[in-house]
Amino acid sequence: MDSETAIQLLEAQRQVWDHSFAYIKTMAVQSAMELDIPRVVQNHGKPITVGELGSALKIARARAPFLARLMRMLAHMGYFVVENLKDGDDETAASYSATLMCGFLVKDKPFNAATWFVLANDPILVDPWRSFGAWIRQPPAGAAGAEDLPFAMAHNGKKLYEVCRDVPRMGKMMSEGTESDSWMFSKALLAKCGSHFQGLKSIVDVGGNTGTISKAIAEAFPGIHCTVCDLAQVVSGLESTQPNLNYVVEDMFQKIPPVDAVFLKWVLCDWGDESCVKILKQAKEAVTSSKGGGKVMRQPFRVEEKRA
Ligand SMILES: C[S@@+](CC[C@H](N)C(=O)[O-])C[C@H]1O[C@@H](n2cnc3c(N)ncnc32)[C@H](O)[C@@H]1O
Repeated sequence: MDSETAIQLLEAQRQVWDHSFAYIKTMAVQSAMELDIPRVVQNHGKPITVGELGSALKIARARAPFLARLMRMLAHMGYFVVENLKDGDDETAASYSATLMCGFLVKDKPFNAATWFVLANDPILVDPWRSFGAWIRQPPAGAAGAEDLPFAMAHNGKKLYEVCRDVPRMGKMMSEGTESDSWMFSKALLAKCGSHFQGLKSIVDVGGNTGTISKAIAEAFPGIHCTVCDLAQVVSGLESTQPNLNYVVEDMFQKIPPVDAVFLKWVLCDWGDESCVKILKQAKEAVTSSKGGGKVMRQPFRVEEKRA
């Protein structure tokens, strides 16, 4: 084997090993959140040493080298900036400050990814990946569609939102996790696309969760009546504090209330083509019966393809 091939093979192996241990990065972030590291570092006000961090977290001194290792890894991943650490220094002497990414792991802000992170790594979402190979080998019993997915195979035939209904921790995390994204999204939506709401009298936020985006639209446009439509497990019992906002329990596959505009954010991407067509047909029906002209607004998801 020539030296060039050997180097290429070593690099390819490095990448494969990277993938085999990819979960360590996820687990490092999850451990940091469990230990409350992001909040403590962020609130410290100045760079915090590993010793100070260990005392704040009430971690035994004997564990300091492991805490230091975890912090270096998280710094490498971009969550912290490491200061005053030179080659050969004792790792426990380093101090750390928080980056913007770290802020997303602190739960006490309206926008954060803390709940989302835990949700994404819950066995309920991870387990279906373990049966992906078995699922793909298995010929579909009926027509392939939203019911026929590895998720359903791992969960006794249930779909994601049926599991959210039946497993309270999952439903709670799904609502909280999407609320946070929607809070940030609503700022960008109103700043960049506010003109699309001008002139509307009514809008229905289909699959609108607890109404984070609708609340922002209702506040920015008091002349628009916003209806948040979602499943019973999400909106039943929710009361609006805004006069131009209400909640309705509705299955979007069955009916969408008549309005000037239907708003779909992060909804179509959850479903297969056939289901999306059903939702869009209901949306069309809802807006064509309105006098406001009618429009369907959706937040698209674009997958950028890497081309060689
Ligand atoms: C990924 S979340 C998006 C929530 C919200 N639009 C956002 O962007 O934050 C999808 C939402 O669709 C709702 N949903 C799922 N099936 C539904 C159905 N059949 N009818 C109405 N809403 C549904 C879920 O309960 C969930 O709140």
